[in-house]
Amino acid sequence: MPQPAWLDDAVFYQIYPQSFCDANGDGIGDIEGIISKLDYIRRTGFNALWLNPCFVSPFKDAGYDVQDYFKVAPRYGTNDDLVRLFDEAHRRNMHVLLDLVPGHTSDRCRWFKMSAKPLRNKYSDRYIWSNSGWSRPDGYNWVVGNADRNGAYMLNFFLSQPALNYGFNNITDADWQISYRDKRVKPTMVAMLKVMRFWLDKGADGFRVDMADSLVKNDPDKSATAWLWRKARRMLDRHYPQAALVSEWCNAPVAINKAGFHCDFLLNHGGKLTDFAFYKRNEQGASCAYFCKTAHVSAQQMLQLYLDELAKTRNNGYICVVSGNHDVERLSHYLDESERKLAFVFLLTLPGAPFVYYGDEIGMRYIAQQSKEGGFHRTGSRTPMQWDDAQPNMGFSTAASGKLYLDVDRQQDAPCVSKQMSNGNSLWNVVRTLAEIRHAQADLHASSEMTVVECTPQGVLCYRRGQHTYVLLNPTDCPQVSTVSVGSKIFELGTASEKDGVTMLAPQTAVIFQK
Ligand code: GLC
Ligand code: CA
Repeated sequence: MPQPAWLDDAVFYQIYPQSFCDANGDGIGDIEGIISKLDYIRRTGFNALWLNPCFVSPFKDAGYDVQDYFKVAPRYGTNDDLVRLFDEAHRRNMHVLLDLVPGHTSDRCRWFKMSAKPLRNKYSDRYIWSNSGWSRPDGYNWVVGNADRNGAYMLNFFLSQPALNYGFNNITDADWQISYRDKRVKPTMVAMLKVMRFWLDKGADGFRVDMADSLVKNDPDKSATAWLWRKARRMLDRHYPQAALVSEWCNAPVAINKAGFHCDFLLNHGGKLTDFAFYKRNEQGASCAYFCKTAHVSAQQMLQLYLDELAKTRNNGYICVVSGNHDVERLSHYLDESERKLAFVFLLTLPGAPFVYYGDEIGMRYIAQQSKEGGFHRTGSRTPMQWDDAQPNMGFSTAASGKLYLDVDRQQDAPCVSKQMSNGNSLWNVVRTLAEIRHAQADLHASSEMTVVECTPQGVLCYRRGQHTYVLLNPTDCPQVSTVSVGSKIFELGTASEKDGVTMLAPQTAVIFQK
């Protein structure tokens, strides 16, 4: 299958628009602010962006409750500002993904208001309704009493997010369930394709697709949902062959091979690589993640399923590992800075396109706090980017500090870009160096092969990318021995030295070398 060529060397940066940079001083981030920081992003080594939803919304779920798919939320700017962001990014050889939310809308969306009318109209089947207000079949989340239409409507996520109707695969109650092949539900995907074309025509380079597996209901093997996405993929292949589709699915063989996504995210799901690498805890609550220096675990479990899924999706698309995102506690909540440096070596040398969540490159903290806009525990990972130590808000905004969308990290030692940039040993410098190395070495690009060369019970891991490039890791706080001889080094954290025919690895060492 054809792939957008730019994905092979893409290193993504995820921007949560409310919290990145406030250009007009109203206390909330905006598109103009993002444009003003493109040079910083590019300089750090990121050449692609994913923007969380920036469309008109009542923000009951931070914008994942879209009210108007065709209009930028005024708090972020205008459609013209977004087009300017595309242009400014393209001028710097960067690409921009928007966030497409296809599974649900806000209950304030015009489609929903029309669907909720008692009189039948062209939107009546756009959402999933039961037969009457009194009928709320088990196994689904219903809302009743919020509209004059005699029926209950199904939710996809929060109370404010009614499920769009893409039909059902297994019909268990023909009274109200419509087949996904029925012409009454076809307009839903047609509408979503129209949204995609609208933004692609304006210069977007593709979409991160929210809850991509959630379209067709009663679809346990996801075959019907995949069938729908293949339609979207055909449209792209025909008209926008350089546009990328990235799914929030976390099941690469299905998302990539069956549904036709170019990329699938690997999030924090239990049993997956990121869980074993960054998050996992034992029954006593202590970290047993591979990159925790005191855990001393083999990389074997971490890699097993990943390598299997990599082999299954080979040549079809990419598994994308993320440093975190707006839904999980930040990486710094789980790993200390020395551990995160090694974690970034891993993240930035894996196949597929890596995604770094804004602020993770400077070690921003998870700050537990009161929920904002449906964030709940996630709010702590959504605080404003810290640019420098200037008052009042660390360079994020000139608004009075009490006027911010969310407060900045006000702790004495809060990390910020300017301090990280001027310190040669900072996390930022490690990330920047790694991104640069990745761009320069075709072996490290998304499509090149990964082969495990050594994986010891003590935690040493060595893998080859492509023909000549190797990554050797000792994430533990103990010296370790590797049988792999190190060729010419292109990156080194800690020390790897050859002695008596073996390689001695100092605690927390990572080397990239070629031979
Ligand atoms: C995805 C988003 C999350 C949102 C949910 C509902 O998981 O990442 O932030 O709340 O979908 O749209
Ligand atoms: Ca603003």
